[in-house]
Amino acid sequence: MSTNNSLLHQIAPVSNSQHGKITVVGVGQVGMACAFSILQQGIAREIALVDVLAEKLQGEMMDLQHGLPFTKNCIINAGTNYSITAGSQLCVITAGARQREGESRLALVQRNVEIFKGIVPQLVKYSPATVILVVSNPGCTSFAFHTPFVIIISLVDVLTFVTWKLSGLPSERVFGSGTNLDSARFRFLVSERLNIAPSSCHGWIIGEHGDSSVAVWSGVNVAGVPVISNVGSLEDEEERNKIHKQVVQSAYDIISLKGYTSWAIGLSVAAICQSVLRNTRNVFALSVNIKGLHDVTKDVYLSLPCVIGENGISHIVVQQLNSKEKDALKNSVDSVFAIQKSLML
Ligand code: NAD
Ligand code: LAC
Repeated sequence: MSTNNSLLHQIAPVSNSQHGKITVVGVGQVGMACAFSILQQGIAREIALVDVLAEKLQGEMMDLQHGLPFTKNCIINAGTNYSITAGSQLCVITAGARQREGESRLALVQRNVEIFKGIVPQLVKYSPATVILVVSNPGCTSFAFHTPFVIIISLVDVLTFVTWKLSGLPSERVFGSGTNLDSARFRFLVSERLNIAPSSCHGWIIGEHGDSSVAVWSGVNVAGVPVISNVGSLEDEEERNKIHKQVVQSAYDIISLKGYTSWAIGLSVAAICQSVLRNTRNVFALSVNIKGLHDVTKDVYLSLPCVIGENGISHIVVQQLNSKEKDALKNSVDSVFAIQKSLML
């Protein structure tokens, strides 16, 4: 902006500080739900959008910019060149390729690994101090859309491991959205049974995001009171399994009804972003390297409750899991590791 005008009399140069910048890679349904939630909640000072689709980027950028008079001020940039991401405090990756007809799971992951090879080093090059949040989960969308009941391995956990390896960043600065969404679905379903607000029903889904996730029923509580020993219907294991199945089934149901999931993941990502940008030290179920915890001896990314702030994950909350929950977590470890070890990085 020119300072040579009669409206503004300059007394100091404008600061170009990039504090509070978030990059969102991938402007599909999920990327835009994340960007919109971040914007609407006034979390970032600047949002940079990146994709390979230049026109879509331009359209999404303009559409968000025109809403700025109704939100807290924010700079919104978009481009196919990663230079626009420079100085990001947090980069959210929602980009990825969907499964092709007849493509094996391993081929699909490898194809996404190749995509990530083009994304992750660029993010780190322009923002060496960034935290990276991986949301892409390319296993689910198209597979589930065509065959809603097929059992699949979720790939957000594997891609978080891949991102950690490709980035060269310390593990605390790379994590995945993991079972944060599954935990939100869980809390909502329990809240419906109890007629209490979801935010007052506390419960955690850990392990793999998706089919082999683990519901930690032993810890589900309202105001510290465990529900499994105090709520008639939830004392019944079959009833509890039904709720967990509903959590897992939710993604399939939404995808078969509307083609993709977007709003809840967007809101959950915004909550995570807020915790990083404002260093709030909230606890979320995030995909993290769990080696050394719950008898896991391999570098595997799966979800556990994590404390996050501006440098990423500072602590993992060590839950007291019962033997059934530990066995179920081991099952998640085996599923994810089987894919991880076959990848070419
Ligand atoms: P989408 O297909 O609508 O969008 C993907 C976007 O990625 C597209 O705009 C595409 O152009 C872009 N892209 C592809 N290759 C790229 C590259 N090399 N660089 C930059 N951008 C690239 O998909 P969607 O519905 O927005 O979902 C995005 C991802 O989020 C999917 O993998 C989906 O499974 C996942 N997802 C995860 C969760 C979760 O809980 N982790 C929830 C919902 C969806
Ligand atoms: C979800 C995606 C598809 O909504 O992973 O759970």
